[in-house]
Amino acid sequence: MDSNWGTSDMTHNPPSERKLSGKVAIITGGARGIGAATARVFFENGAYVIIADILDDLGTKLAESIGGLYTHCNVSIEGDVERAVEIALDWKGRLDIMFNNAGISGPDGSITNLKMENLNALLAINLNGVVHGIKHAARAMIEGQNPGTIICSSSSAAIMGGLASHAYTLSKEAILGLARSSACELGVYGIRVNCVSPHGVPSEMLMSAYRRFLVRPDLQTEDVGKIVGERGSLLRGRGGTVEDVAQAVLFLASDDAGFVTGHNLVLDGGYTSGNNQMSFIYKG
Ligand SMILES: NC(=O)c1ccc[n+]([C@@H]2O[C@H](COP(=O)([O-])OP(=O)(O)OC[C@H]3O[C@@H](n4cnc5c(N)ncnc54)[C@H](O)[C@@H]3O)[C@@H](O)[C@H]2O)c1
Repeated sequence: MDSNWGTSDMTHNPPSERKLSGKVAIITGGARGIGAATARVFFENGAYVIIADILDDLGTKLAESIGGLYTHCNVSIEGDVERAVEIALDWKGRLDIMFNNAGISGPDGSITNLKMENLNALLAINLNGVVHGIKHAARAMIEGQNPGTIICSSSSAAIMGGLASHAYTLSKEAILGLARSSACELGVYGIRVNCVSPHGVPSEMLMSAYRRFLVRPDLQTEDVGKIVGERGSLLRGRGGTVEDVAQAVLFLASDDAGFVTGHNLVLDGGYTSGNNQMSFIYKG
């Protein structure tokens, strides 16, 4: 398992530049998208990474490529998340970083047609999954007297209405509240709890939503990046990438963010901070 460490084919940064040397991290939803990009960045920064996902083939391949472990983990099942934490403890004797990143989009459509079973199915993953992650990571950190860090994936949709389905919006707003209350309780143990709120990052989740909404099955990552850059960002032409989010998660996971807790780090090119439709007032 550790055979890549210290060998010439490793792709780590030089030791002096590694921000997570020897840290043990779990990334839920780490098989692809933002989670996978974060797994690579964590590895490059010297962390031991456990990918916890339901995409077994992708997750296993990624874990192998970064000297990590994969565990099949449906975050809506508490026992699966508890098991992922146990794997970290069995493997390295500690858990330093929990990235509660797994999530799904939808159900689409009007609030007047919202089926409660669809809402509950989404909450089981997006919200209960995060509750499970915070609960079991915090237990391991408290029992191990290890002041680790917990990061949760919220969304720009939690800040501004109209960016995602009702169910998804509800789940992401709830995560912000849960992260803040958890930060209040866990701060006495030195455990930091923060959120990242990505926006318009062309992962599989966003690509399939855009293809559906725009009825353009041929849509490519670059097309979506362009749409977001032109219409969903104050930084004209600049949309977000999975790497942007991974770097923000790295910051929150590292000692660089040692005094940051209860925070929501928004990665949206400023979109939810202001409206540039009236920027003519700045002319002259
Ligand atoms: N892409 C964006 O623009 C954006 C914006 C805001 C928030 N987010 C959030 O970022 C997170 C990552 O999403 P992404 O954009 O990389 O999408 P993605 O679909 O590429 O990745 C989501 C990952 O979660 C996994 N997953 C789904 N259900 C799961 C379950 N029940 N148990 C375990 N794993 C499960 C998937 O298999 C996948 O690997 C999500 O929480 C998402 O809501 C994304």
